[in-house]
Amino acid sequence: MTVHFIGAGPGAPDLLTLRGRDLIARCPVCLYAGSLVPAEVVAHAPAGARLIDTAALTLDEIIAEIRTAHAAGADVARVHSGDPSLYGAIAEQIRRLRALDIPFDITPGVPSFAAAAAALGGELTLPGVSQTVILTRTAMAASPMPAGEDLATLGRSGATLAIHLSIRNLTQIRRELEPLYGADCPVAVIYRASWPDQQIIRGTLGDIAARVRAAKLTRTALILIGRVLKPGDFADSALYAPDHAHVLRPRKSSADDAGKTGDP
Ligand SMILES: C[S@@+](CC[C@H](N)C(=O)[O-])C[C@H]1O[C@@H](n2cnc3c(N)ncnc32)[C@H](O)[C@@H]1O
Repeated sequence: MTVHFIGAGPGAPDLLTLRGRDLIARCPVCLYAGSLVPAEVVAHAPAGARLIDTAALTLDEIIAEIRTAHAAGADVARVHSGDPSLYGAIAEQIRRLRALDIPFDITPGVPSFAAAAAALGGELTLPGVSQTVILTRTAMAASPMPAGEDLATLGRSGATLAIHLSIRNLTQIRRELEPLYGADCPVAVIYRASWPDQQIIRGTLGDIAARVRAAKLTRTALILIGRVLKPGDFADSALYAPDHAHVLRPRKSSADDAGKTGDP
């Protein structure tokens, strides 16, 4: 018996991995985070499977379900939104499973920041503009940030920021980042990336809070911040430049250039 932690992807049912789909299809028990995992993903479970939305359960109740399945020798699909390594609360489940000697494995999923970038039709790293993406969040009452991970500190890097769980904190985000990124720094808020009701709101650090307020968005949105969102001109990457040789495209010799390699 194994507990399979599975990333469901950001929302679109066909962004589930093949491995995730196949595992769900063969587990007689499926525990899923109902608020963000689409019904079509859970629908891969076999007929007669025990399906449990964990949104209203406590950790103890979730572990009790897993223990029952373990006692019955029934594999469990534990389905989380996006990729389970980000804000997935799987570590505390894994700690309990280890203590109970219950085997588990993890299948990654498409994270929401990647779906958000895809929705924008762009790239989060550009030569000479940004080569770093910081995946972060802001503090909430129940979840303070560790020392040194506040936006005023992270923002000193100038990196592209992908801020989760923070759609209600846009005023604070502006206050902390405006001195570092400027009021005109581009911001995109992607609501429910890849879902049918996806929305994209573009603006700047100076005006994004008002735009999001007007759109009445209060949950499930990713905030992307950085010059990379509206870069103007930027250099081509070196990777495909004709004068950049690398192991898969070695520099041509002058004999090659003349069409004579000298090879036998
Ligand atoms: C509990 S976290 C889960 C993150 C998830 N594990 C991931 O890989 O993205 C939930 C937060 O992720 C972001 N999120 C998750 N799904 C999203 C989506 N489809 N579109 C935009 N943001 C999303 C939002 O910031 C939301 O508040």
